[in-house]
Amino acid sequence: MASVIAIDGKQARAGRKLVIDSVEKSDNCDAWRFSVAPMMDWTDRHCRVFHRQMTRRARLYTEMVTTGAVIHGEREKLLGFSPQEQPLALQLGGSVPIELARAARIGEGFGYSEINLNVGCPSDRVQNGRFGACLMAEPALVGECVAAMKAAVSIPVTVKCRIGIDDQDPAEALHTLTQTLVAAGVDVLIVHARKAWLKGLSPRENREIPPLDYPLVYRLKQAFPRLPVVINGGITTLDDVDQHLAHVDGVMLGRAAYHQPELLLDVDRRFFGQKNPHDDASAALDACVPYIEGQLARGVRLSAVTRHLLGLFAGRPGARSFRRHLADRAVKEGAGCEVVREAMAFVSRSGEEMAARVNAA
Ligand SMILES: Cc1cc2nc3c(=O)[nH]c(=O)nc-3n(C[C@H](O)[C@H](O)[C@H](O)COP(=O)(O)O)c2cc1C
Repeated sequence: MASVIAIDGKQARAGRKLVIDSVEKSDNCDAWRFSVAPMMDWTDRHCRVFHRQMTRRARLYTEMVTTGAVIHGEREKLLGFSPQEQPLALQLGGSVPIELARAARIGEGFGYSEINLNVGCPSDRVQNGRFGACLMAEPALVGECVAAMKAAVSIPVTVKCRIGIDDQDPAEALHTLTQTLVAAGVDVLIVHARKAWLKGLSPRENREIPPLDYPLVYRLKQAFPRLPVVINGGITTLDDVDQHLAHVDGVMLGRAAYHQPELLLDVDRRFFGQKNPHDDASAALDACVPYIEGQLARGVRLSAVTRHLLGLFAGRPGARSFRRHLADRAVKEGAGCEVVREAMAFVSRSGEEMAARVNAA
């Protein structure tokens, strides 16, 4: 059965009816079991290709891109990605349904596997644009946004939100938002399990200071059993991921995945019952080399890729030299893949000897 939801004046003038399919969702939400969070300035295409060498199955997300940028900006630069990054979701920032619908359609045309709406970012810039976390206070509008995107694309439309903002009662705010989203046909809800304080805390503090409330997200899943719910925030080990999976459908890791990318090496075996693509970080990094060569040939600077590799080998002998070598040499004019190989040698068995040779050169 299908129901028709009125959207807004603009939509009505455009003569479009938004039809929301209210057929019960399939229970198959394996695709969201493990994901790497959207992180501005971090999860760019180079980072995602690197993460993909460690896990084929984790769902990856772009940095947030505003609807204005998608519609008016340099699309190839903003939205272009390598096929190997799939499954990949495009995260949009915006709050005007018709613009989100248009941006979602453009994203679908680029080949993304999912469109995700940001309802969690607390930065001033985002607040000025009246989107991101401040949308937690406007559930009806978020519902209109999702309905408009659902009507525009056939790929899944998902939302990433907080549990509340400012003095909202989180249990109430999250429940109301979820009800509206389900009515609008949202496919998956990703919840960063802490409030955002829109005044007085920086975005960084807003990722650390408001307390995490995982049980609230578990209760949300119980209240909406058919809605795939993904939990996010402060999760740092794969054992913790396992524990959350007893309560929700998926887990999203942000900073831990970025700073300790080796975590990703065992994701496919552990959460998807598949063979991991590589046994160790050196093999995964080796597998990145052809991609890096391709990027260099297109004029991309080596450091644009290698800045995402610095967390590798953390805590292992030679890791510091690995980081220092990449940080010092990859920024130099004309730096090529030899810099990556030299850096890797610091953490390989013959690292000491290689380090001496490189330093003498
Ligand atoms: C540098 C950085 C940039 C971020 N940018 C975004 C973003 O563009 N969109 C978004 O929804 N969340 C963004 N986040 C929030 C993360 O997606 C995630 O919700 C948050 O870091 C909590 O998860 P974690 O504790 O696993 O890192 C960002 C986080 C960081 C650290």
